[in-house]
Amino acid sequence: MGHLMAVILAAGEGKRMKSKKSKVLHTACGLTLIDWVYRSVRDAGVDESVIVVGHKAEDVKESMGNDVLYAYQDKQLGTGHAVMQAEQYFKGKDGQVLVLCGDTPLITSETISNTFKIHRENNNSATVITAELSNPAGYGRIVRDVSGNVLKIVEDRDASKEEKIINEINSGMYCFNIKDLESALGELGNNNSQGEYYLTDTIEILIRKGLKVGAVKVEDSNEILGINDRVQLSMASEILRKRILVNHMKNGVTIIDPSSTYIDVDVQIGMDSVIYPSSIIEKGTVIGEDCIIGPASRIVDSKIANGVEVKNSVVLESSIGDNTTVGPFAYIRPGSTIGKKVKIGDFVEVKKSIIGDKTKLSHLTYVGDAEIGKNVNLGCGVVVVNYDGKKKNKTKIGDNSFVGCNVNLVSPVEVKSNAYVAAGSTITEEVPENSLAIARARQVVKEDWVVKKGMSRND
Ligand code: UD1
Ligand code: CA
Repeated sequence: MGHLMAVILAAGEGKRMKSKKSKVLHTACGLTLIDWVYRSVRDAGVDESVIVVGHKAEDVKESMGNDVLYAYQDKQLGTGHAVMQAEQYFKGKDGQVLVLCGDTPLITSETISNTFKIHRENNNSATVITAELSNPAGYGRIVRDVSGNVLKIVEDRDASKEEKIINEINSGMYCFNIKDLESALGELGNNNSQGEYYLTDTIEILIRKGLKVGAVKVEDSNEILGINDRVQLSMASEILRKRILVNHMKNGVTIIDPSSTYIDVDVQIGMDSVIYPSSIIEKGTVIGEDCIIGPASRIVDSKIANGVEVKNSVVLESSIGDNTTVGPFAYIRPGSTIGKKVKIGDFVEVKKSIIGDKTKLSHLTYVGDAEIGKNVNLGCGVVVVNYDGKKKNKTKIGDNSFVGCNVNLVSPVEVKSNAYVAAGSTITEEVPENSLAIARARQVVKEDWVVKKGMSRND
């Protein structure tokens, strides 16, 4: 079967994005545009991928890493010239090359596999992926003869009046036999309106040589949508988002309102979990079964176990154990490990802390840089005073302890297990096991003070 290689063109500038960033590094549903394309060719089973870089080359390389090869195109002299820069990797090999663009994130691995299959079954020298568009302006047109055979591709700028009417367009994606591509690239000129080496001209060259060129028309023309500006970026994101949501629903996740739910690529969600409206679940997140997420929760790069509720809350880079409830209006910041059956109630913030099983932080509490044991109760308004103005310090609370309302725990400090801390205390020293700590001024009552001072507030 020979070698199957993908060449992804990404040297262009992408001016219309109006961005400091390379166009192909803009993201949709948590993945860069070029990574979407790469994943589709990878999933279609290519042996190797080469990315042709030029504009912002270092950024693209850094983002894509070492899974792919790179070819460098110094000056952007056209799509044909771009492929020539990658030739070093396929020259003399037996097999096929797929050529795609880095800005077409909607292409599916199914379409690529299908094109490859048709290419081989028909013994084509080249097979072009095409689409029918009601408005083909701007795209290269597929020119066919009366019996429907592909003759050539003509660029919009170079097209005649008759050719401009054709609404079958070139997607810019192809499968070539390596040796045929090599010979056609060798004959490519730049005698056209833009003075560029057009890859599209290889088609006419191959046909002139008596070789067979085929075309595969995609059913859903969205698949070939190229991203040139931010309006198209939002359109592509929307299509990718729907694909992701449909997958989750097919896997047994209930999504109450798909129109307001945003889930990134690769997020995993277990069966019978329910996602309420206006929730955002970002990259790296794994959610178990029977969870309730939302309404209006945002979860980023976190591990959520089974039976967890996260209502109107934000969870960042943290893990939450089975049957724990979070929110409404809680904020779990990076580096937190929350145990099983924990209750994190309203207006509770937890940062870089460990919270043991069955512990309750029911309302209005801040916990930072702390280690809290199992079955602990923190009353309303407990604050871990973790910052002394210079550095962050640690607080520890042992199992089964009870911290009353409105307590400050001035770190570094430790409350040992089975201890009680009286409400309103400011704790600065260790509280031993099984003891009660009270750290507040004793109440003073001055009888008849109001009358003596003439301070009565009656009219
Ligand atoms: C190209 C096709 C056109 C097709 C359209 C589909 C040619 C001549 N035309 O036109 O038939 O309908 O795509 O979207 O191929 N690139 C490089 N180096 C270059 C030039 C381009 O890497 O020197 C890359 C760009 O970064 C981009 C891709 O190739 O990812 C396509 O280039 P672009 O200039 O957008 O081609 P179009 O004019 O859109
Ligand atoms: Ca383009």
